[in-house]
Amino acid sequence: MTTHIRNFCIIAHIDHGKSTLADRLLEQTGTVSNRELKTQMLDDLDLERQRGITIKARAVVMKFKRGGQNYELNLIDTPGHVDFQYEVSRSLACCEGALLLVDAFQGVEAQTVANAFAAMEHDLKIVPVINKIDLDYARPDEVAEEMMNSLGTDPDECIRVSAKTGQGVEALIDAIIEHVPAPTGDPSAVLQAMVFDSNYDDYRGAITYVRIMQGTVRKGQKIRFLRAGANHEIVELGQFAPARQPCEELHAGQVGYLICNIKSLGDVHIGDTVSIPGDAAAKPLPGYSRPKRMVYCGLFPSDGQNFSDLREALERLAINDPSFEFEPETSDALGFGFRCGFLGLLHMEIVQQRLENESDIDLVQTAPNVTYEIVNKRGETLMIHKPQDVPDPGDIEEFRQPIVRCNVIVPGEFIGAVMKLCQERRGIQKSQEYLGAQRAMLTYDIPLAEVVYDLHDKIKSCTRGYGTLDYEMVGYEPADLCRLDILVNGKRVDALSVVCNRADADRRGRAVAKRLKQEIERHMFEVAVQAAIGSRVIARETVPAMRKNVTAKCYGGDITRKRKLLQKQKEGKKRMKAIGNVEISQKAFMAVLSDS
Ligand code: GTP
Repeated sequence: MTTHIRNFCIIAHIDHGKSTLADRLLEQTGTVSNRELKTQMLDDLDLERQRGITIKARAVVMKFKRGGQNYELNLIDTPGHVDFQYEVSRSLACCEGALLLVDAFQGVEAQTVANAFAAMEHDLKIVPVINKIDLDYARPDEVAEEMMNSLGTDPDECIRVSAKTGQGVEALIDAIIEHVPAPTGDPSAVLQAMVFDSNYDDYRGAITYVRIMQGTVRKGQKIRFLRAGANHEIVELGQFAPARQPCEELHAGQVGYLICNIKSLGDVHIGDTVSIPGDAAAKPLPGYSRPKRMVYCGLFPSDGQNFSDLREALERLAINDPSFEFEPETSDALGFGFRCGFLGLLHMEIVQQRLENESDIDLVQTAPNVTYEIVNKRGETLMIHKPQDVPDPGDIEEFRQPIVRCNVIVPGEFIGAVMKLCQERRGIQKSQEYLGAQRAMLTYDIPLAEVVYDLHDKIKSCTRGYGTLDYEMVGYEPADLCRLDILVNGKRVDALSVVCNRADADRRGRAVAKRLKQEIERHMFEVAVQAAIGSRVIARETVPAMRKNVTAKCYGGDITRKRKLLQKQKEGKKRMKAIGNVEISQKAFMAVLSDS
């Protein structure tokens, strides 16, 4: 029997009140009492609270009685940010309905549109909700119209609520029961469940979040993760209400968790299908894919910091976050460190911040770069995660870069500024639509490399904070790119190689060479700084030889002073990295990296 179950999620832009509404739903269904209700129960990572962004999907069950009927409402919390698009899609695949929550003052934003379209693609029943109607300056009628123009929702169906005061929330619960379809699926069929999230508990190991699509799963049962190809026994299963509440079985339509003594989150794949071992297993559910790391950067311990401490910290982090990946890397410039892969820029920031919060390591981060695709002369396709791995120009048949489709929503007065910015970033305009009298949505295809750099910040600053950006991967397209190298006395400095547009290479090469010249201290000999594409040098600067010896002026003088000076020089040297016979300080590298 699944007629009393409703599975739904809330789609909203950051700060439109998703967490507050979730709290109110938990309270008004009697799942938690007001006193128990720590604000925003659903975001349980500290960091999420700091940043105010729901990072990982969570699920909570609300059981209550209405009109003599028992109901079970499962709220699946979806991440709001594009970096976690795949996780969003898996969460949506577990729901039959979505609350589309829009702030009654802010109106529709870019993320809302992207996620609402994703929900429609999954055939979810959309329940439009306008929040914050208690605000004096709320403009619910206009917002309802914007929602109609951008998302096609019926203004008469919009439910108006205040998540803060609770006004309208009862009507919303009724609407969920009435409009969101009950799940289908035969409880006596072969077990088939979707893994839509996981987290790691120090005592219990991996906790796997599932939605049972068909069949029934019981405590003690043997199960199989079909994609990962691993069998396990269920030690505990249950639901979150919102604390873990163990039970004996979960059946078709229900949402809950499984614990099976799995020691690493790397073994639990989001999007995987849980069934029974053996030939009688159900079919794997569609839509599974491995996490795609789109942004890479190098992380190095800064001077005097321990490499193995950093390794330990990264390992700890990877246990909790299977979409983050790292491998050791050696750089002439920065020593021993790691090349790390992330889902996107926000993911990168989160990981870095966690590393700094959870360990005492001072990090040096190299400029982020995206994953390129190169077809070489032998017809092989290579995925390139770092610029120094780009083959020499003679060996490249085709150089391809990732392109993303960006939706930018802006007040009308800023359209010109945003168009100019997107064109500068090599964007190709796809469409322009007005959402209401004052706001428009611009759609551009832009190379991801241009987006990861600082497009979001730039859009915020040229729209006084009102513009919002969202993007999704379109695919790889050929482009006229090249690897730009920096040579110091003829030797390539790996950390300074970048991939850039050929048309940009001259300007960039000259700028880096100039900057590096300022940063490199004088040596006993002349130092040549060159920028090159393959074997073709496109810029050159020279650091002249030093004329004086630091101790020369102490000649015949006080020996202690001389020692002090030599000591000082030695300390200075510790922080130097040698490129061939040229020594360059880490500070010099960082100056150049942060400029380019
Ligand atoms: P993220 O977790 O960052 O995605 O944000 P969110 O969408 O969960 O928003 P959250 O619930 O944290 O609310 C954002 C802010 O809006 C908070 O300061 C809330 O107190 C406030 N807020 C939420 N709902 C209402 C409402 O109905 N009325 C008013 N006046 N404020 C509200």
